[in-house]
Amino acid sequence: MTSGPVNIYEYEAIAQMRIGKGEYDFIAGGATDEITLRRTRAVLDSIMLKPRMMVDISDRSMSTTVLGQEISFPVMLDPAGNHSAAHPDAEIATVQAAGKAGTIMVLSAQSSRTLEDVAQASSGPIWFQQYFFRDRGLTLEMAARAEEAGYSALCLTLDAKVSPKRERNIRNNYRGSGGSPNFAHLNLSDPSESFALDGPSGVRDIRDPASTWPDLDWLAANTRLPLVVKGIMHAEDGRQSAEHGAKGIIVSNHGARYLDTTFASVEVLPEVVDSVQDRAEVYLDGGIRRGSDIFKAIALGARAVLIGRALFWGLAVDGEEGLSAVLEILRDELDRTMGMCGRSTIDSIDRETIGTVSPLLSLFPQAESFR
Ligand SMILES: Cc1cc2nc3c(=O)[nH]c(=O)nc-3n(C[C@H](O)[C@H](O)[C@H](O)COP(=O)(O)O)c2cc1C
Repeated sequence: MTSGPVNIYEYEAIAQMRIGKGEYDFIAGGATDEITLRRTRAVLDSIMLKPRMMVDISDRSMSTTVLGQEISFPVMLDPAGNHSAAHPDAEIATVQAAGKAGTIMVLSAQSSRTLEDVAQASSGPIWFQQYFFRDRGLTLEMAARAEEAGYSALCLTLDAKVSPKRERNIRNNYRGSGGSPNFAHLNLSDPSESFALDGPSGVRDIRDPASTWPDLDWLAANTRLPLVVKGIMHAEDGRQSAEHGAKGIIVSNHGARYLDTTFASVEVLPEVVDSVQDRAEVYLDGGIRRGSDIFKAIALGARAVLIGRALFWGLAVDGEEGLSAVLEILRDELDRTMGMCGRSTIDSIDRETIGTVSPLLSLFPQAESFR
């Protein structure tokens, strides 16, 4: 009998016992009623697989490329602030696990280690995530620091202009970790002026609520790094992103942590993929907990997925080793799903292998259970 956790849910259960309630609720929770948080899992679970037989699956490969960089399987690590909430090795452990797994970590501007220290510890490609700041000088300065440190793409999070209402944090009186060392040089003497980050509301934010599409053109013209936008949930915004210089688009609702009662990100993925039409790569995050979730996202047009909470659960259980194990579980589950569905490469995963409507519905249209 295996004593260790065998899936991501078991990692979460152990992580919950290891970290305090405030931290656990901060990581696991979503905005207001958490309707989108629950919907995200329900939708992924409601997509059914339609396996194909008699396909030669003896030689399977999960490798692919994102923005021209090879990754060993189509799972990247989402930008997420303050990994020290899960483990003292924080983002250093994360970047090392990413390198060992042959994939990309997207470092959040809100990291608990400096972007330079994390870059130093990396052994593979890394991307950096930031925002449009009110101070456009700071926006360019952070992009330049990322480029200088060796990050190969710049991810702009677009869906975090307004501070979210997270009721678990309010009830827990959760105060977060304070500012990131990435902004130590700003010398924000008044803590109320510090970076409001992904954390509790009520503090003044240095992110710019006034940013619009021309700002993306401006940034694209002022950095050599390819731009990836994060937080797209609408076909029209996918089209705009591609037209204003984004090379990558992350379809995401921020893990249901900002606006509640949105669709699950996977529901809007096909419309964004259609509107972007190969002008940019499209990735997906939100609710990925199983290899079959990755398969479904790819079948619906994502080039790769990213994981957020799952990385915290791995870190919380056993630092770098724990996160490595989480990544290997997802790799193993994806490999099995591909094999059993008769798909041996990422490119061959298509919509033909999934469905959402029971074939019995046409025979028994009145039966609710088949809906
Ligand atoms: C604790 C935590 C902190 C996060 N911080 C950031 C952040 O700094 N920047 C960002 O763009 N997204 C942030 N996110 C959102 C993730 O990048 C991602 O969109 C989300 O976690 C995906 O859903 P999942 O957790 O179900 O995988 C954070 C998520 C969590 C759980």
